[in-house]
Amino acid sequence: MKEQIESIRREIEQWLGQAGADPALKREGLFAYKMEHLGKTGKISALSKGMRDVAPEERPEVGKLLSDLRRWAEENFDSLEQELKKRELEKKYSSERLDVTMPARFAGTGSIHPVTLVKNELIDIFSGMGFDVFEGPEIERDYYNFQALNIPADHPARDMQDTFFVTKEFLLRSQTSSGQIRVMENRKPPIKVLSPGRVYRSDSDATHSPMFHQMEGLVVDKNVTLNDLKGMLDEFARRMFSSETKTRLRPSYFPFTEPSVEVDLSCSACGGKGCRICKGTGWIEVLGAGMVNRRVLENCGIDPDEYTGFAFGIGLERIAMIKYGIGDIRLLFEGDVRFLKQFGNGGRV
Ligand code: DAH
Repeated sequence: MKEQIESIRREIEQWLGQAGADPALKREGLFAYKMEHLGKTGKISALSKGMRDVAPEERPEVGKLLSDLRRWAEENFDSLEQELKKRELEKKYSSERLDVTMPARFAGTGSIHPVTLVKNELIDIFSGMGFDVFEGPEIERDYYNFQALNIPADHPARDMQDTFFVTKEFLLRSQTSSGQIRVMENRKPPIKVLSPGRVYRSDSDATHSPMFHQMEGLVVDKNVTLNDLKGMLDEFARRMFSSETKTRLRPSYFPFTEPSVEVDLSCSACGGKGCRICKGTGWIEVLGAGMVNRRVLENCGIDPDEYTGFAFGIGLERIAMIKYGIGDIRLLFEGDVRFLKQFGNGGRV
């Protein structure tokens, strides 16, 4: 019995010396070995069972040897387990170590879309002249988009703005001019308001998109004249393009204005001499405008004998294309980062 105890001790000692020094040893390995000895059916437990065969006078001595062996084994296994835990943690820490002094990988930032740049700039220019901003709904009633703007059902002017109908009564607005009606229904003059937003038309080619953006302007007050409109547009042209830019009004037709005008700007690419961009004319058409039709004022409960007004509608993509020399409107909606990052802050911080 004494020899058996001694040989188990040596065996464990040897194992601790070898396996304990092996860096590949895992806690599971240690546990399995420990169970081989201290488990219920383990070697040391088997020796305990053999105690009943030991002669009574030797029992105290052998019993002590056996319990010493058990305690000694437990202590050694425990301390090796602590050691293994420490090794595992060290390994984990060193593999997860962060070098906080390393330069960061730059994730890139977005840039402001050219249409948003133009919108913000327009709001900036016109709010400096006392305008505030009203945004109407994109799904609009036929009444606001057409009828109240003096375009009754079946009027031929509807053809120019064929759009997407949600129901017979509701449509995707084809113009921000609907905002004029919503503002005039709720406010009394003096009115000076901008109404920017998305509009929709059944139209698609290099210069037309089924969804695009407009900015409506509306001024209603006593004694407002076409001259005031011209003065305001001159200021807009100079601020948006250059101090040299001139405006030109040509007669046109819109059901909601009388008289109506088409507004051209002198070509900023060639200074008005004529080039590819202005198709040799020296002028570029940028917006529609006019004096608000008496009938439109009446539709909103404003007395046309007391008040007059002017309105204008600017296509934001068109301004962006002229300002930044963009040839195809579709580039603005494809979301190609190589194109978009050329504008605004260009993706830099
Ligand atoms: N809504 C017109 C369009 O989309 C543009 C326009 C013309 C707006 C004349 C106006 C205006 O306010 O007075 O073609």
